[in-house]
Amino acid sequence: MKRICVVGTGYVGLVTGACLADLGNSVICLDIVDEKIERLRAGELPIFEPGLDAIVRRTVAAKRLSFTTDYSEGVPGVDYIFIAVNTPTGPDGAGADMSHVEDAAKSIAENLTHDVIVINKSTMPVGSGNLVSQRIHEHLRDTSLKVSVVSNPEFLREGVAVHDFKNPDRIVLGSTDRDAADAVAKLYLPLRAPIMITNLYTAEMIKYASNAFLATKISFINEMARICDLLGADVTEVAEGMGYDKRIGRAFLNAGLGYGGSCFPKDIKALAFMADEVGLHPQLIEAVMKINHDQRRLAVERLEAALGGSDSLRGKNIAVLGLAFKDNTDDMREAPAIDIINWLIEAGANVHTYDPVAVETAQRIQPDWQVRYCDDELAAVTGCQGVIIVTEWKRFRELNLAELRAVMAEVEGGPVLIDGRNLFNAEEATIAGFRYFGIGRGVERARGVTRSRGEKRSDTKAARNLHKYNGDLREQQ
Ligand code: UDX
Repeated sequence: MKRICVVGTGYVGLVTGACLADLGNSVICLDIVDEKIERLRAGELPIFEPGLDAIVRRTVAAKRLSFTTDYSEGVPGVDYIFIAVNTPTGPDGAGADMSHVEDAAKSIAENLTHDVIVINKSTMPVGSGNLVSQRIHEHLRDTSLKVSVVSNPEFLREGVAVHDFKNPDRIVLGSTDRDAADAVAKLYLPLRAPIMITNLYTAEMIKYASNAFLATKISFINEMARICDLLGADVTEVAEGMGYDKRIGRAFLNAGLGYGGSCFPKDIKALAFMADEVGLHPQLIEAVMKINHDQRRLAVERLEAALGGSDSLRGKNIAVLGLAFKDNTDDMREAPAIDIINWLIEAGANVHTYDPVAVETAQRIQPDWQVRYCDDELAAVTGCQGVIIVTEWKRFRELNLAELRAVMAEVEGGPVLIDGRNLFNAEEATIAGFRYFGIGRGVERARGVTRSRGEKRSDTKAARNLHKYNGDLREQQ
């Protein structure tokens, strides 16, 4: 059993601390925000992360997990100190703000009384490991102490962070001190995952490059979606066809309103900033960011066009289903819903919205929003001329579209459904009485719908199976 302090109790720090405690270590999680620690000590989680509650309760009860706001309590006597504080985009709008990391390094150093390994879990610019080491050594009271720094980037997705911690594809460690890296590797042995040990810069770059590539896959499929819309193909089937190729892989090829969250937007910007700083113009990364920004605009443009063109949203009731940046989280950082609702308000629409868990977040970060927060999807769409699906919540996929249609306003040709995450089948949405617009669903929209539900569903299913197994392309009707 090792003694560990984790600085930062966001979804990375708290998940890391609780899961390391669950592996049998003794962990103290530290945060300088009193309210967070008070809630944790009261048994409440300050974040929504499926599965975390049970682990926190279990490890607190076993006295292997505790919480503090005080470095003089968290630092003495531990073998490892993880820095898991946030590194948001800085005031220059691009580079990572390292102030929280530097504050943590200083406070750690001022309370150190023994040799220790400091582990950078936060995503920080390539070379920051040196900065952390420098700050620590600048503030050490006892300069004879040995403090090694190891970069250990996280690859946790919000909403599935516990799963991702327990089932890592790989552990990446980087350090100038190989013994320190080996010592950190021992913490992860129970997870039986590949462990890669490299140098500091490379470990930090693996994190940025991984996120940049995943974001590139998303912007790539979103560009393919725009082409599919114009050429009459269905991007969801294009993604399926591509995904069989192991070199490509199906994951992260879901076209939609693009990526948000606390990582992709800031990390991609930070990587572009780092490249620019050393004189290299990051063409691909910049294109990835531009496509992503434009993608969320698509939802409002399509809705406005469908309801009569310029200024047609003024006075209309528009439902926005989904506020969180993705499903299974209450996080709205860089969420497409923020831009989309702001644009709808600017266009004079009355916005009704629903999200299973992120309403409180929205009310906290957007207190001036003049929107109606509704108790469920049906309430949100009642009386509306249009609805935009913004977040890929599973429950939205299971909605009864006919029920939604029945409570919506009467509009020539039917109310408009902008399916921002391609959750629905265009033909079924059309049968339910909507004018359906997905993202890259050209083939279904172009085909139109004239047959009965039964024939259509079986036929579509048969077409899909035939398409999949015999490979012959059936004539699109
Ligand atoms: C991401 C990385 O996946 C994770 O490895 C890293 O440690 C942190 O950043 P996260 O931002 O929590 O994780 O969520 P993720 O599931 O990656 O989704 C990111 C965004 O991309 C969401 O807005 C999601 O809606 C969007 N997305 C994801 C797509 O638009 N299409 C996809 O196919 C997948």
